[in-house]
Amino acid sequence: MAVARGDLMRHDRRKFLMLTGTGLAAVSAGSLVQPNQATGQASATDTGNSGSWDTVRAAFDLSEDRIHMSAMLIASHPKPVRDAIEEHRRGLDADPVGYLERNDSRLTRAVRSAAAGYLDTHASLVALTDSTTMGLGLVYNGLRLRPGQEIITTDEDYYVTHESVRLATARSGADMRKIALFQNLDGVTAEEIVDRIAREIGPSTRALAVTWVHSSTGLKIPVARIAERLQEINAGRDEDDRVLLCVDGVHGFGTEDSDMPGLGCDFLMAGCHKWLFGPRGTGIIAASERGFSATRPTIPSFIDDSTFSAWINNEAPAGANDGARMTPGGFKAFEHRWALTQAFEFHDGMGKENVAARTHELAGALKEGLAGFTNVSLVTPQSPELSSGIVSFDVDGISPQQAVSALRERGIVASVAPYTRPHVRLTPSVRNTEAEIETVLSAVHSLVD
Ligand SMILES: Cc1ncc(COP(=O)(O)O)c(C=O)c1O
Repeated sequence: MAVARGDLMRHDRRKFLMLTGTGLAAVSAGSLVQPNQATGQASATDTGNSGSWDTVRAAFDLSEDRIHMSAMLIASHPKPVRDAIEEHRRGLDADPVGYLERNDSRLTRAVRSAAAGYLDTHASLVALTDSTTMGLGLVYNGLRLRPGQEIITTDEDYYVTHESVRLATARSGADMRKIALFQNLDGVTAEEIVDRIAREIGPSTRALAVTWVHSSTGLKIPVARIAERLQEINAGRDEDDRVLLCVDGVHGFGTEDSDMPGLGCDFLMAGCHKWLFGPRGTGIIAASERGFSATRPTIPSFIDDSTFSAWINNEAPAGANDGARMTPGGFKAFEHRWALTQAFEFHDGMGKENVAARTHELAGALKEGLAGFTNVSLVTPQSPELSSGIVSFDVDGISPQQAVSALRERGIVASVAPYTRPHVRLTPSVRNTEAEIETVLSAVHSLVD
C-alpha cells in the first residue's frame, strides 16, 4: 500500500516558515511569528527547514521506541509549546506575583485572540477551560432550562456529554432523551443523520447535545448540515424556545478544516490537549452570542472585570454573559494556559487545511489497509465526509483489550474505546509517518494470521 507523500510546502510558505528556526529570518514584519511577549524572544521551533512533515514530527519529543497512534488521548507538547511553558514557569518560579501581575491580562487576552482567530470568531465569544469535560459541564449545567423542556442527545455520545446532560436536567426539572442517529453504521449517510435528528425534535426541545467525531466508532457527524436544518426549525420559534446546537468538538478540533461560522453551532466545547497539541489541562468553549445569552456561568470568573466591580459595589452584574464570564476563575497552571497561544500558532504555521488533508490521508491509508484484511472489521466509515482521524475496528476472535495489549507488545500505542461496545482505536495525526502506518498494518495483520 503506497501513501502519497504530503507536501507541507503546498501551504503558504511564509506561514510554514514559523515552524522553523532557519525560516524566521525570512519572515517579514507582520507575519504570524510573534515574539514571545514575556521575553521578546521569537516563539518558533528550531527544527531545521526540510519543508516537510518530518519538520513537524521533529518538533515533538516523542520516544522513538514506539509508534504513538494516540493523539486523541493526550498531547505531547511540540517545541514552541514546551519552550513557552518553560519560560513562563521560570518567570513564575522567580517572581510568582510580579510575573503574574506583569503578564496575566495580556497573555490571557492573547490566548483568547489566538483561539478566536483559529475559529474565525470574536475573542469575547471564547471562554477558557481546563478540558472538554469542564466545558461540557459548564455549558449544560449553565443552560437556562425550564421544567418540561428537554435536551436531546444520541446513543453515540460519550459519557461526558451524557453525564453532564443528566446532571443538568436533574437539577432543572428538564428532560433528557437519547435518540438513535442511524439504523446501521455501515451505510449511514449524512442525510440519514440530519433527517433522524430533525424528526425527533419537538416543541419542547431546547438543546441538541452531540459529538462532532465519535470516540467509539470514529463517525464524524455533519454538524453544518444539522445546523442548517435547525435554522429552519428555529425560524418559527420564540427566542427562549429555539433549539441550541451544542457540540463536543474535541476530535474535530485540530483535525478538521472548520471554524465557528462554518460549523454554525451555538456551542463548541473542546480540550486543547489532544489533536491541537496544546498544553495539557487546557480547553475552550466557543459559542454564539445567542448561546452565551441562554447560559449562566457556574464558577466565578477572574477575567470579567464587570462581574468583579459589581461585587465590589454590591450590585448584580450588568450586561450579557460572554466568554470572559464563562471562564472559570481561580489561580491556574498559568504557564500552561498562556502557552496555548503557541499551540494555535503551531497549527496556523502548518495550515489548517494541510493538517486536515494530512490527517485524512494517513487515516484513509490505515482504513484502506485494514479493510483489506479478512479477519478485521473496520468500524469507522471510509468516506472523509463521515470520518476524521479516529480509526476504529474489531479483530475476529480477539477482544479489543487483547488486541490493544498485543499491539503494545509490538510497540504500537492503540487504545480501547471505553463504551458499552468497545472497539480498537488507532488515531494517526500529523505527528505520524507513512512508514508508521505500514508498520501498524503489518502488526495488525500479524494478530490475525
Ligand atoms: C468525545 C470525547 N469527549 C471528551 C473527552 C474528554 O476530553 P477532555 O480530556 O478534554 O475532558 C473524550 C476523551 O478523552 C472524548 O472521547
